[in-house]
Amino acid sequence: MIEEWSEPAHASWYLSIADRFPHRKEGEAVVLEQIPHDVGRVLDLGTGDGRLLALILSVRPGACGVALDGSEPMLKAAKERFRDQGGVDVVAHDLTRPLPDLGTFDAVVSSFAIHHLEHDRKRQLYAEIFDVLQPGGVFCNLEHVSSPTPQLHARWRRALGIDKEQEDASNRCLDVGTQLDWLRQIGYRDVDCYWKWMEMALLCGLRAGS
Ligand SMILES: C[S@@+](CC[C@H](N)C(=O)[O-])C[C@H]1O[C@@H](n2cnc3c(N)ncnc32)[C@H](O)[C@@H]1O
Repeated sequence: MIEEWSEPAHASWYLSIADRFPHRKEGEAVVLEQIPHDVGRVLDLGTGDGRLLALILSVRPGACGVALDGSEPMLKAAKERFRDQGGVDVVAHDLTRPLPDLGTFDAVVSSFAIHHLEHDRKRQLYAEIFDVLQPGGVFCNLEHVSSPTPQLHARWRRALGIDKEQEDASNRCLDVGTQLDWLRQIGYRDVDCYWKWMEMALLCGLRAGS
């Protein structure tokens, strides 16, 4: 677990700016479009305060979910968010380690979390996600990806209004193409980048139905 995220000040800083990322809500809206109307179980990896899972449950009220994170302050915030909501388990887990046994899921989602893992662990995790998806299940990773050129990365920083020193040191961003190739190699179907704005991209794939 990257230590940064265990610090309450870092978690609070992120939560205070989470709404300020330009176009974020567009990406989240495209995630919601991918979630089947009859979805049952949803797993949110690196859930933070449960933002994405809560959005999904607001439009799929019949669903239940697991909100997983490795940061104590984030887990506390997620428990607070879901305190009065049945059907959500908040689970502590460090994603640098293999996924724990949580059963199977109709959808696995993640937003702006997996890019904190080293690249080889990202790939392993994508394979573990495939294994826990039900046939017909969907994986949606709304992710911070790398820019193809330093110039475009500088434009991203300008769009966010931050300089080099203010970049999150826990970022391990990777390009879209490599990650889509991995998903295809693992066996996901209909793999594509379903939405993108600068360094924010929605990478999705399905597990074929039985
Ligand atoms: C940028 S925040 C995103 C939170 C939330 N998904 C959202 O969209 O608002 C990144 C999240 O990934 C979690 N995270 C980072 N590294 C992790 C790890 N190794 N294991 C579990 N969670 C991790 C952090 O604790 C944090 O909640």
